[in-house]
Amino acid sequence: MDYDPNAVAEQEYKSWQRSADKYIKNIAPMTATSGQVPILCEIGLIDGNSHVLEIGCGTGDVCIQLSEIAMRVVGTDFAENMIHIATDRFPKLEFKVANAEDVPYDDNEFDVVVCNYTAHHFARPLVVFEEARRVLKPGGRLAIIMPIQSEQKCFGSFFASASEELPPEDVPGGTLLYVDDPAVVGLMVKESGFTNIVSEKRIKPIKLEHIDLLLKTGWSIFGLDDQPQDVQNRIRTKTIQRAEPYKQADGSYDFPDVVIVVSGTK
Ligand SMILES: C[S@@+](CC[C@H](N)C(=O)[O-])C[C@H]1O[C@@H](n2cnc3c(N)ncnc32)[C@H](O)[C@@H]1O
Repeated sequence: MDYDPNAVAEQEYKSWQRSADKYIKNIAPMTATSGQVPILCEIGLIDGNSHVLEIGCGTGDVCIQLSEIAMRVVGTDFAENMIHIATDRFPKLEFKVANAEDVPYDDNEFDVVVCNYTAHHFARPLVVFEEARRVLKPGGRLAIIMPIQSEQKCFGSFFASASEELPPEDVPGGTLLYVDDPAVVGLMVKESGFTNIVSEKRIKPIKLEHIDLLLKTGWSIFGLDDQPQDVQNRIRTKTIQRAEPYKQADGSYDFPDVVIVVSGTK
């Protein structure tokens, strides 16, 4: 199947618009509130003087944590529903609806651009990284964390199951979706003009109290309520089976997820 970036962007937009109201409870525990922020601060060199832009900020969960450390934090996302929720939750922060390919900020405005659990969703990641470079000050840092599908045991348990049951066009994701080598992302960041590239894998565990959280996450991102009941049943059963090895005696789950971590300097 030919890669159509506009179709990918449209599918991504639809997924995130429809899952925005479930994001805080169902999705943020995997993407935003399970230990990502210290990694972003470390690789982005974020401190009390930093002006930070998060591209693809969702409901603002990373932005609010960064705002306790940095001087200024701005969040952008192309899904209006995400930005409405972020603005309602954190009225003191600045959020804007914007495609990461074209953000409404000046050249050389930020010290750090953060891209958390989002790079694999971009339809044209090279364009996004070039745009990030434009708004960074000389010496500014791009800080990327993204999951590795093959080593993502938490959301990956659902993702692999849904991918087996749905047509490929219903599975959202950009060109980096199946990348498992950090050097591939690093090379793209280099190609977009950054230097001092560091690309590596890190273990970033995720604990879930109950498997329902994962199922609800998948159902809302993929809009599975609209699928035939037998397809939904198979995805549910397979997800539970894949997650089983990580189940603890108290019914919670400890997933040893591995992420790609990449940074570069303008
Ligand atoms: C998995 S969520 C991550 C949200 C947030 N960074 C976090 O860690 O919780 C991915 C987000 O990227 C946004 N997104 C995807 N492609 C985008 C693009 N081209 N421009 C702006 N936002 C985009 C989606 O709308 C969604 O909110």
